[in-house]
Amino acid sequence: MTTLELDGVTKTFGAPDAGGVVAVDDVSLTVDDGEFLVLLGPSGCGKTTTLRMIGGLETPTEGVISFDGTEVNEVKARNRDVAMVFQNFALYPHMNVSQNLGFGLRRENEDRSSEEIIDRIEAVAEMLEIEGLLDNTPAALSGGQKQRVALGRAIIREPRLFLFDEPLANLDASLRKTMRTEIDELQSEVGITSVYVTHNQEEAMSIGDKIAVMNDGRLQQLGTPSEVFNEPSNQFVAQFVGSPDMNLYEGTLTENGDVYRVNVGITEFDLPSGLVQAGDDVLDVVVGFRPQDLFQSRTRQTGGPKIEADLRVVEPLGTEAILYGETEGRAIRATDTQFHDLDEDQSVTLSIAPEHIYLFDANTEELLKGRLMTEREDTGVGEVEVRDGAGAEVRDG
Ligand SMILES: Nc1ncnc2c1ncn2[C@@H]1O[C@H](COP(=O)(O)OP(=O)(O)O)[C@@H](O)[C@H]1O
Ligand SMILES: [Mg+2]
Repeated sequence: MTTLELDGVTKTFGAPDAGGVVAVDDVSLTVDDGEFLVLLGPSGCGKTTTLRMIGGLETPTEGVISFDGTEVNEVKARNRDVAMVFQNFALYPHMNVSQNLGFGLRRENEDRSSEEIIDRIEAVAEMLEIEGLLDNTPAALSGGQKQRVALGRAIIREPRLFLFDEPLANLDASLRKTMRTEIDELQSEVGITSVYVTHNQEEAMSIGDKIAVMNDGRLQQLGTPSEVFNEPSNQFVAQFVGSPDMNLYEGTLTENGDVYRVNVGITEFDLPSGLVQAGDDVLDVVVGFRPQDLFQSRTRQTGGPKIEADLRVVEPLGTEAILYGETEGRAIRATDTQFHDLDEDQSVTLSIAPEHIYLFDANTEELLKGRLMTEREDTGVGEVEVRDGAGAEVRDG
């Protein structure tokens, strides 16, 4: 039962004017009680340092960290009542699973009866489906089983906070997917406030209630997976979240009566003015098309701009494929389920619905228009969304 708050937290290693590093730069965020927050960003952006400050393994240079409104900056790690799970989960090799699970409890709760501890070990083992392994030593466990024991050791103490630092990075791809679902379910079940670090955007999207996207020590955006994907606060977030990468093209935005004219070289189109929040001067913009939002005109009418592309590579991924093409000398990526009759070197006409187009201010890189999901008043977007829903059914079917 803990609400975690970071207020203006900065961590500098060494002197800033003498080759020092600002690892975390003025980060403020709140994680509500029971919430699962993912810290997402590229390597070196300050995720681990942020987590270590929350856990009490590093002291902030500036700012305040509090648990339930009480500052913990000066509270030592062992007194913060947090449990951490790292990538390199170290189990005690000479102890069996049961002893590994119970070790922390025995050390911290000398007044607990061993019967109570045994009950607790059994309950946690059952939750993690490792009841059958209690007598095994770590050497006899697979990677996934070891990681389950490491999780069990964290849960068994019922800490105020769970802190995870890339806990699945050493596991193979399929086990990673299974384990992340399990961590998600487990966390919902025990309801303990959690912060989970990863550089993997897919993992972040699937596991987080909220995602804090970081770059260069700074918080770029804090939002639900859907907000971060559909309304990224800036170009960095838009590019970092989503796969394959968003297509980005420089262009201009000109107000023209009740529409905005967008010229991106590869295509030119109008957007209803209600869709864009921009000044009325000509503006340098960056236009973004998510590969998933581009459709072949022959299979679906989007009512948006059309782009002629020469295919270079069709990469099947099972039910869909990534189409890599070229348009007016620029690369373009699209995903499509209708690819079985396509040849590399063929031309296709791609199209995108106006409400799915992203626009960024080229100077500030801030978002001007996201991929609108909800009906907005006075734009008539709702009407288009109905057609989009029907199209999505065709696409899935
Ligand atoms: N103990 C340290 N001393 C000096 N620099 C550090 C230390 N820990 C981290 N850094 C630097 O701080 C930055 C952020 O590191 P880190 O928090 O580990 O990033 P991430 O976990 O996102 O990969 C990096 O530039 C890293 O080199
Ligand atoms: Mg790290």
